[in-house]
Amino acid sequence: MEELYLGVETSCDDTSCAIYSPERGVVLHRTAAQLDHERYGGVVPEIASRLHMRTLLPLYESVMDETGAELHLLSGIGVTNGPGLTGSLLVGLSFAKALAYGSGVPLVGIHHLEGHILANALEEKFVAPCVVLVVSGGHTQLIHVERIGSYRFLGGTRDDAAGEAFDKIGKLLGLPFPGGPAVEREAKNGDPAAFPFPRGLIRSGECDFSFSGLKTAVRLSVEKLGRLSPRIVSDVAASAQEAIVHVLVEKSVLAAKRAGAVRFYIAGGVAANGRLRELMEKRLSGMDVTVSWPLSEYCTDNAAMIACAAFHHIRAGRRDGLGLNTFPRGELVSWA
Ligand SMILES: Nc1ncnc2c1ncn2[C@@H]1O[C@H](COP(=O)(O)OP(=O)(O)OP(=O)(O)O)[C@@H](O)[C@H]1O
Ligand SMILES: [Mg+2]
Repeated sequence: MEELYLGVETSCDDTSCAIYSPERGVVLHRTAAQLDHERYGGVVPEIASRLHMRTLLPLYESVMDETGAELHLLSGIGVTNGPGLTGSLLVGLSFAKALAYGSGVPLVGIHHLEGHILANALEEKFVAPCVVLVVSGGHTQLIHVERIGSYRFLGGTRDDAAGEAFDKIGKLLGLPFPGGPAVEREAKNGDPAAFPFPRGLIRSGECDFSFSGLKTAVRLSVEKLGRLSPRIVSDVAASAQEAIVHVLVEKSVLAAKRAGAVRFYIAGGVAANGRLRELMEKRLSGMDVTVSWPLSEYCTDNAAMIACAAFHHIRAGRRDGLGLNTFPRGELVSWA
């Protein structure tokens, strides 16, 4: 009988369920984005948990119905148990525990960042050792992956995450939430050299990042400009995107050199950015480092990556008990 794994992801504002097969890859993945946050320009934790409570059960039922998967025949259930918003995480974790308790199917808690990394294993074989740039709404980290389950932190942001910087810049420009995709769209019509925005820590010699200076520089420019014409919005978006991408790429090059890596992956929501992909490919292929990234739908939060991670944990003999808890923040620790 075919092995099938269920993934449940509710760490922030997306409710997601997926079925993953080690043989066939993603069988079905469904994500319900919470649009109610748009009017607040950011995620409201209480609204997020209430919407997960409303959406998760019907979403799970639709995924099981459409795939014909049967709960008691699953090989494992993976659920994100941190980092993230506690209220949101608790909805997914309690749900997954109830399923595991009622069916006897093994349960594993998955670190959200490991999920993002393993989104790269959904469509093709994940090649390790490698270096991964995890670049999302809450994280910007370079991680050396010796093998799946063995992780070494090479560097990360000292303040804002790159996705957060995209979101805040989008808000300053009056663009819709989330800012990343909107800034990228605007940037296509703009001049990336129009504003000389700062590249934080670019010459620090370390694999660290800082995006707070860029955010302030964009705010000061926008305040000074006053009324923003469509042309100016595009120029600011293009220049800010270029500053973020430039730093991400240079630090990735440094990390790949330090780790002696020949394989590099990008993961997380910002990995959907076309300019980042383009520049990363150009710089790393010049060093004979192969770089890849997940399909865009698997860059942002999704349960397919959690189901895939669950497969790797359970295959290695790891499983969690019903005492499993959530954690709001915490480094990705090795388990293999
Ligand atoms: N095309 C894009 N260009 C730049 N940024 C993007 C793009 N698409 C999505 N993003 C950014 O990705 C982030 C969302 O990614 P993701 O869903 O992985 O983050 P998160 O789950 O909120 O944070 P974390 O994974 O750190 O907990 C947002 O900040 C969004 O603006
Ligand atoms: Mg995420």
